[in-house]
Amino acid sequence: MRIKRAIFPVGGLGTRFLPATKAMPKEMLPVVDKPLIQYAVEEAVEAGCEEFIFVTGRGKAAIEDHFDHSFELESALALHSRERALEAVRAMVRPPGAVAYVRQQSPAGLGHAVWCARHLVGEEPVAVLLADDLIRATPGCLQQMVSRYEGGNMVAVMEVEAREVSTYGIVSPGEERGGLVEVRGLVEKPSLSAAPSRLAVVGRYIIEPGVFAELDRQERGANGEVQLTDSLARRVGAAPFWGLRFTGTRYDCGSKVGFLQANVAYALADPALGPELAPWLKGQVGG
Ligand code: G1P
Repeated sequence: MRIKRAIFPVGGLGTRFLPATKAMPKEMLPVVDKPLIQYAVEEAVEAGCEEFIFVTGRGKAAIEDHFDHSFELESALALHSRERALEAVRAMVRPPGAVAYVRQQSPAGLGHAVWCARHLVGEEPVAVLLADDLIRATPGCLQQMVSRYEGGNMVAVMEVEAREVSTYGIVSPGEERGGLVEVRGLVEKPSLSAAPSRLAVVGRYIIEPGVFAELDRQERGANGEVQLTDSLARRVGAAPFWGLRFTGTRYDCGSKVGFLQANVAYALADPALGPELAPWLKGQVGG
């Protein structure tokens, strides 16, 4: 089954990375030489998505510019025969009309952000990607999900440490087959004692239109926000619902340590950087 549209909620304030994010969206923070949001968009392209909906907020104009042509830059690169750089900046511009921006006027939670895109998604399942969750995987995490998707709702899941449970949406797992875990329930940011498992949702979703009908209620949940998790939870039993234990490594780039780990991992894997960085890193850690 094809998933044509992808939603990228990018309205968050990024307060954990202040002052870096005072005038720059946190989604533009680079891992090596690419902003987080570009990794997410490339993952959606790889998974076959053709329409890209960014749910933005104030101060996010850099994201719009990033995915558009920059005539000055492109002509300067062409003039100086910087073919590879030119190709790289052109490749990320999607076809005309394929990108839409809607504004989330108040930071009322992830469910509210996704709901802001409701008029653009139609009556088809849609992907949601959180750029903070950077997933290094081949094929990409969303592609892995799409290839197992047979309708209903699907989330990417992974086991987390007990101390982290209260920072995630946590799944109540049912039967399991070949990496797919039946989702029997879902709770946003439970205490460890109330958590049904340690199986956490990471930021990749495929959601069916019924979720938008639930989001219409705009009910506030954990932290006083409209939670996507709550609307998904209300669809349990009404539509098939699976969690995919994806293969790959996920970096929590919403935290400083996760972001630094991502930079080190991606740099070490880069043939132009790894060989120089690795011995230096060893020296730092060993010495
Ligand atoms: C959001 C979701 C949560 C999910 C997490 C994954 O939380 O609400 O269910 O587990 O992303 O990163 P946030 O990180 O925005 O608090």
